[in-house]
Amino acid sequence: MDKNILITGGAGFIGSHVVRLFVQKYPNYRIVNLDSLTYAGNLKNITDIENAPNYHFVKCDIREKAALKEIFIKEAITDVIHLAAESHVDRSISGPMDFITTNIVGTANLLDVARSTWKGDHHIFYHISTDEVFGSLGSEGFFTETTAYDPRSPYSASKASSDHLVSAFGHTYGLPIKMSNCSNNYGSHQFPEKLIPLMINNIKNNQPLPVYGTGANVRDWLWVEDHARAIDTIFHKGKIGESYNVGGWNEWTNLDLVQLLCKIMDQKLGRPEGTSEKLITYVKDRAGHDMRYAIDATKIKNELKWEPTLQFEEGLTKTIDWYLANATWVNEITSGAYQTYYREHYS
Ligand code: NAD
Ligand code: TYD
Repeated sequence: MDKNILITGGAGFIGSHVVRLFVQKYPNYRIVNLDSLTYAGNLKNITDIENAPNYHFVKCDIREKAALKEIFIKEAITDVIHLAAESHVDRSISGPMDFITTNIVGTANLLDVARSTWKGDHHIFYHISTDEVFGSLGSEGFFTETTAYDPRSPYSASKASSDHLVSAFGHTYGLPIKMSNCSNNYGSHQFPEKLIPLMINNIKNNQPLPVYGTGANVRDWLWVEDHARAIDTIFHKGKIGESYNVGGWNEWTNLDLVQLLCKIMDQKLGRPEGTSEKLITYVKDRAGHDMRYAIDATKIKNELKWEPTLQFEEGLTKTIDWYLANATWVNEITSGAYQTYYREHYS
């Protein structure tokens, strides 16, 4: 094997797409998927590659440093692509501590294990982060790689801390790090606590569509498989020590986006136009709700020749088709604990 790559969080939404891409595209790499399988981790996201000869799953919590060290040595890990995290802003507001222990301490554990295990310069520690570390924009402007950090939720503050630790290990110890900060992803296998799959599920089930505040907040949306391609590009071609912003050039207010989902789903479900829109319900705004995120993805375009490939309406249609065709996947994860979360959060 050319490399033994540890991908953390590979049973989650984005991680499962990254694991699939690497396992299928690089038969000469051994991919070790490390995940603790929280509510957001699901091995059913990757059943199609679970028997591939270059794939191996290890259940481990990145907060357990001694266990990480053992895995690094046993699997002779040469590179890390780090996605494991607590990822949902609303959960970080109701319970910040898991975000602090996993996103900050867990990342520090991985960095310290890599630093103390690796010799030489043929390694890469690639950290996946979010544009939310840059804070909130008004109606103008974009986040670039040099925008000052200004995180405003416990989630974004924990990701900002992990980004700073990654840079610090690069500067201080010469750990060969790379980093990227991406906008909101959408696509198959996303846990239905996030805006798009939650709305798809509720439209399908004729449930209220909870829009926070007035629905005027803006997000930039990127198809998850385009993000996975960006991660592949940065891992192979990005410069050591650099960070790259990844985005879709695709800004939508939440209300416009929910209305578009309603329109596409009315067509798919054979409902008269305008039926699902009637389910839109304005609910109490998120505490500290960031107004607008928008990424300037010029650096990755110019330096690494990466660009998003999929038009939004086409991507949403593919995503809706996937959720409608995978009712069992959805039903399994929306029963039990999800019902309690939903009741507590939205009542
Ligand atoms: P997700 O919540 O769907 O998946 C996270 C995965 O990490 C799960 O499989 C979970 O089991 C695992 N995990 C959580 N805590 C762990 C721990 N202590 N030890 C080991 N594994 C643990 O998240 P996602 O949306 O796929 O996001 C993946 C990464 O990408 C995160 O670092 C997130 O900050 C970043 N990101 C996400 C988005 C987005 O729109 N979803 C955008 C930009 C960046
Ligand atoms: P989300 O998918 O949680 O991603 P993030 O907060 O990381 O951007 O939310 C996207 C946007 O949708 C955000 O502005 C909050 C809003 N939102 C709602 O209006 N209603 C909902 O039920 C959810 C989950 C989100």
